[in-house]
Amino acid sequence: MESLAGRAYLVTGGGTGIGAATARRLAALGASVTVVGRRGEPLDAVVADVERQGGHALAHPADVRDPAAVEAAADAALARFGRLDGLVNNAAGNFVAPAERLSANGWRAVVDIVLNGTWNCTSAVARRMIEAGTPGAIVSVIATYAWTGHPGTVHSAAAKAGVVAMTRTLAVEWARYGIRLNCVAPGPTETEGAGAALWADDADRERVLASVPLNRFASAPEVGDLVGLLLSDRAGYVTGSILTADGGQSLGTQIYGPPIADAAAPTASAQ
Ligand code: HXC
Repeated sequence: MESLAGRAYLVTGGGTGIGAATARRLAALGASVTVVGRRGEPLDAVVADVERQGGHALAHPADVRDPAAVEAAADAALARFGRLDGLVNNAAGNFVAPAERLSANGWRAVVDIVLNGTWNCTSAVARRMIEAGTPGAIVSVIATYAWTGHPGTVHSAAAKAGVVAMTRTLAVEWARYGIRLNCVAPGPTETEGAGAALWADDADRERVLASVPLNRFASAPEVGDLVGLLLSDRAGYVTGSILTADGGQSLGTQIYGPPIADAAAPTASAQ
C-alpha cells in the first residue's frame, strides 16, 4: 500500500484544498512531504494532521512567485528529509473577469503564480534531483480549459496552457535523468478557494453542476489520489501526459436531435 515509502516531495499550495489533500495522501502512501504556501497557519495544520497519522511533514511558508523563496523551500526540504523525489505544482490563483476589463496587474498576478511559479518550483526541485542523481516525478495541477479555453479566465487558461507545454518539453528533455512530468486536470473540485473564486453563489454552483455529466463536484482527496498514482512507480512509463478527471465536463454535449436525456430507457423485452 505504501507506494511512496521513503520518498520525499514538495507540494505547493499545500495548506488548503487539493494541495492539502494531496499532501495527506502522499504521507499516507509513506512519503515525507514539505508543504509550501503563502500563509503559515494552514501549512502548520496540515503538518500536525500528517504527524498525528504517524507521517512526516514540514511546513515552509513561501510565495511561489519568488524564486529565492522557492530555492530556500527546496533547501529546507532537502535539509530535513535528505532527499527530493519530486514535486506537486498545485499553487494557483484565479478569478473570473471579462478579458476587456482585466488589468495588467490582474493578468500578471495569475500568470505569475500559475506559470512562473510552476517554473520556479520545477526548476528548483529538478536541479537538486539532477545534481543528486535521484530519479522521480513532477505533477502539475491544471484545468481542462488549458486546451478548451474558457471565457472569463483568459489569464488562468493561458498560464495553464503554458504549464502543459512546459510539462511536455521537460518530459522529453529530462527523461535522461529519469524524471517524469505529468499533469492532472481536475474538473470542478469542492474546495474553499475554487468555490469562492469560481462558484460563489447557489445559482453558479447549480450551473457548474449541470455542466458535469457525472453530476457532482470532485473531492480534493480523490484528486490527491490521482496525483499519488502519477508520482508512484505504478505510473513509471507515463510521462508528458495529462490525466483528466472532470466527470466528463470537457467532452461534447448533445447538440443534434431530440434531447437524449428525455428518451425512455429500453425495457428488458426490447433488448
Ligand atoms: C477582477 C481582480 C479580482 C477579481 C483580483 N483582481 N481579484 N480583478 N476581479 N475578482 C486583480 C486586482 O484588482 C489586482 O489588479 C490584481 O488582480 C492582483 O490582485 P491582488 O489581490 O493584489 O493580488 P494577490 O494578493 O497576489 O492575489 C492573487 C489573486 C488571488 C490571484 C488575485 O485571487 C489569489 O491569491 N487567489 C488564490 C486562491 C485562488 O484563486 N484559488 C482558486 C484556484 S482554482 P489591480 O489592477 O487592481 O492592481 C483554479 C482552477 C480552476 O485555478 C479550475 C476549474 C475547473
